[in-house]
Amino acid sequence: MNLSNSIALVTGGSSGIGLAIAQSLTAAGARVAITGRNKVKLDEAARSLGAFAIQADVAVEADVLRTFRELLDKFGDLDILVNNAGIGTFKPLVEMDTAGFERVFATNVTGVMIMGREAAKVFAARNRGNIVNICSTASLRGAAKGTAYYASKFAVRGMTECWRAELRKHNIRVILVNPSEVVTDFFATNGLSQKVNDSKLRGEEIAWAVKAALEMDDRGFIPELSVFATNPVD
Ligand SMILES: NC(=O)c1ccc[n+]([C@@H]2O[C@H](COP(=O)([O-])OP(=O)(O)OC[C@H]3O[C@@H](n4cnc5c(N)ncnc54)[C@H](OP(=O)(O)O)[C@@H]3O)[C@@H](O)[C@H]2O)c1
Repeated sequence: MNLSNSIALVTGGSSGIGLAIAQSLTAAGARVAITGRNKVKLDEAARSLGAFAIQADVAVEADVLRTFRELLDKFGDLDILVNNAGIGTFKPLVEMDTAGFERVFATNVTGVMIMGREAAKVFAARNRGNIVNICSTASLRGAAKGTAYYASKFAVRGMTECWRAELRKHNIRVILVNPSEVVTDFFATNGLSQKVNDSKLRGEEIAWAVKAALEMDDRGFIPELSVFATNPVD
């Protein structure tokens, strides 16, 4: 597809990977809307990008319905949904609390589903569209303390396969992107520490992969791609 003048909606576009994706789509000439819960952070990101800000929590169905109303009022159409917003909690199984587990699933799984559902309605009516689910290499194999986050990403990977099977006949491309570790606020926000150095991925590499996958001619699509740092040092 040609990104110039396309319309993109990026959830969690106020920080990290989502912000880098929004930046790269904007630079390619797309009109971009970003979402996030923290209004101060969201407005600042939108100002820096020249993007349209929609304050919304993907885990709240009413917020998602309003997101699509605001987006369609503003732009009248949609070409690309980037389902990027995500959180985590990292605890051994024996310490895992149901509230924390369900909070992660509400954003990472239910939120992705309801955003995808509303986008699919728009895309099916127009017989074209693109859904990019930002998943994780955590969807490929488990790890200690991964009960909530890794399981949520396995679920996203499974949902993505179902959407592909359903939506291809409407010319909707559904693309899964699995970043390995990326230097963002994710770690600090979700109770982890991260060693930062130049060998580790930045949001720009993930944004590059998303843009490249979208720019392929609409006749084809890349179902899934993973992005690793070449030689990460911890
Ligand atoms: N960083 C990594 O190493 C890494 C690796 C693989 C995959 N990922 C995935 O990449 C995605 C982005 O992560 P990141 O590293 O860029 O994290 P980040 O810097 O913490 O950014 C997360 C973004 O999502 C928003 N967000 C969180 N919960 C939300 C909700 N319920 N509704 C709407 N927006 C919400 C945040 O804004 P508010 O808090 O203001 O809502 C923020 O804009 C996530 O899905 C994550 O799982 C990250």
